[in-house]
Amino acid sequence: PMIYLITPTHSRLEQKADLVRLSYTLLHVYNIHWIIIEDSDIKTPVVSNFLKTSGLNYTHRNVKTPPEVKLTDTDPNWLKPRGVLQRNAGLQWLRETALKKKLEPAVVYFADDDNTYSMQLFEEMRYTRKVSVWPVGLVGGLRYESPIVVRGTVTGWFTYWKPQRPFAMDMAGFAVNVRLLLQHPNAQFTNAVQRGYQESTLLSGLGVMLSDLEPKANGCSKILVWHTRTEKTKLKNEDKMKQKLGRGSDLNMEV
Ligand code: UGA
Ligand code: MN
Repeated sequence: PMIYLITPTHSRLEQKADLVRLSYTLLHVYNIHWIIIEDSDIKTPVVSNFLKTSGLNYTHRNVKTPPEVKLTDTDPNWLKPRGVLQRNAGLQWLRETALKKKLEPAVVYFADDDNTYSMQLFEEMRYTRKVSVWPVGLVGGLRYESPIVVRGTVTGWFTYWKPQRPFAMDMAGFAVNVRLLLQHPNAQFTNAVQRGYQESTLLSGLGVMLSDLEPKANGCSKILVWHTRTEKTKLKNEDKMKQKLGRGSDLNMEV
């Protein structure tokens, strides 16, 4: 089966570095198609040029998060959901393409651009019948969060934060068979739910029950993905540089 990866991405100082690092992981994975959706009015030159030379199979789209729901520089990062419309655009493309082309068996995974993915994770998710799940490292204020597995079945969630959620896991913790997307053509993410309920919204919309979940990563006993976050770079010396040299760094230099 083919893996379709849906990645929302937004402009920031560290964007290209994050994308380069992720692309080098993906280059190690066979039969993968990267659907990358920019949170932007345009397809930016940074991302367009990066993708052209990436050596990966990809689809590049863009949709801007409206200002009412967009995180500002001073908002705490948990205030508003991120990547919602972008993931939905990815789902829409995948559904349309699947209907047009009659895709081979395929799996979809939502891969944020700053996480750390082991190559093995992709081989685990490749054979998803409905929805597969696994632990995620460095998330939720814990060393890891994980589905709780009893005799091969998921019975609940090892999660401190809102464990009562129907699917109390991070976006990085599951993959879905594309067939399910076609059987439930309206299931998607939404900005209209409480924090932490994106994953549950999609999976409930897909008619998934706890008993459908397929534990991967050796019965959820291995961490194959980490919710790493890239430190925000402080440009504290740019102004000082202007005073000292009469100019700051060249803004035409793509970083
Ligand atoms: C956590 C979860 O791991 C995400 O899956 C979830 O989307 C997010 O919280 C949330 O609260 O919505 P976190 O590391 O805090 O993730 O979020 P980011 O990595 O900053 O953003 C998730 C994805 O959305 C990234 O791929 C990022 O590039 C993208 N994004 C972020 C946008 O498309 N637009 C934005 O304004 C911000
Ligand atoms: Mn992140």
